[in-house]
Amino acid sequence: MAALTLAAMAVGFGWLPSAHQDFSAGGVWDSICRAAGVPSSWGAKDSQRGAPAVASNVILLPEMTRTASTAAVGRGATLALNCTMCHGMKGMSRSDAPNLAGQYPEVIMKQLADYKSGKRGSPIMAALSKNLSDENIKDLAAYYASLPKARTAPTMYDESLPALVRVGAPMRNIAPCISCHGGVDQKLGAPWLEGMPKDYLVQQLQLFKKGERRNDGQLQMRNVANAMTAEEIDAVATFYARKALPVRE
Ligand code: HEC
Ligand code: HEC
Repeated sequence: MAALTLAAMAVGFGWLPSAHQDFSAGGVWDSICRAAGVPSSWGAKDSQRGAPAVASNVILLPEMTRTASTAAVGRGATLALNCTMCHGMKGMSRSDAPNLAGQYPEVIMKQLADYKSGKRGSPIMAALSKNLSDENIKDLAAYYASLPKARTAPTMYDESLPALVRVGAPMRNIAPCISCHGGVDQKLGAPWLEGMPKDYLVQQLQLFKKGERRNDGQLQMRNVANAMTAEEIDAVATFYARKALPVRE
């Protein structure tokens, strides 16, 4: 039995992987890690690993979108007192920080976790997320998700929408924005964009285009932004920001 196991391991981790063209494993341990889909050097810093940095550590799960308890929303509201200066009293920013009101909860959780781990770079948000526990992050997401979105109805499919938003650009492999960002469909983890400040949208699209923002796990946004011209970035940002007026209290 033992001999059989050893023989199977030799075939599975040694011989079979070595037949692959991209075989680069440094030994049996590397092969085991590759087979299991985990990094072989958990502790090592990205820079020491030599390989490109992992885009994000966050695994998005449908459970993250579940409605939270009122207690969680209450705890989130208290924590959010530290955030109002930039993100607004009710999650609607009056500066160029992103709105958080009505944002999908899994988006807030993922982005805060990415700031905390340094996968999304922002000195301000790195400092502010540093001391947030997983529980704090969940509560903040529950609170912001409970607030009303920018005052308009969601974008529906309509001939007057910019082409990229409505149908994308199939020849350039750009899927329509509304197929991921809400309106027609929302993909888990894709933020609500309606009413976001224009400068913020332009900035983020440029960061994706330049590859400076890399926390989109499957390159969804880098692929889209990479194929866009500066004029197109301006046009879609103008469109999504068109209702950026703050809600009247
Ligand atoms: C001093 C201003 C400031 C404060 C205070 C602040 N933020 Fe931010 N926040 C920003 C800016 C600016 C960005 C965009 C940064 C970037 O370019 O990635 C941001 C981005 C975010 C995002 C990403 C949103 C998105 O759509 O991708 C989340 C979530 C967030 N902040 C949550 C919080 C929470 C929660 C707090 C309070 C604990 C907080 N912020 C406090 C300025 C601030
Ligand atoms: C295939 C799905 C998909 C398509 C199509 C798509 N996006 Fe995205 N977009 C995402 C995801 C997922 C994220 C969040 C990435 C992350 O995890 O940080 C994102 C993030 C963004 C952000 C950053 C927002 C923030 O608050 O952090 C902007 C801006 C954006 N997309 C604009 C667009 C525009 C404009 C289009 C159409 C030209 C578009 N996207 C098309 C999936 C998509």
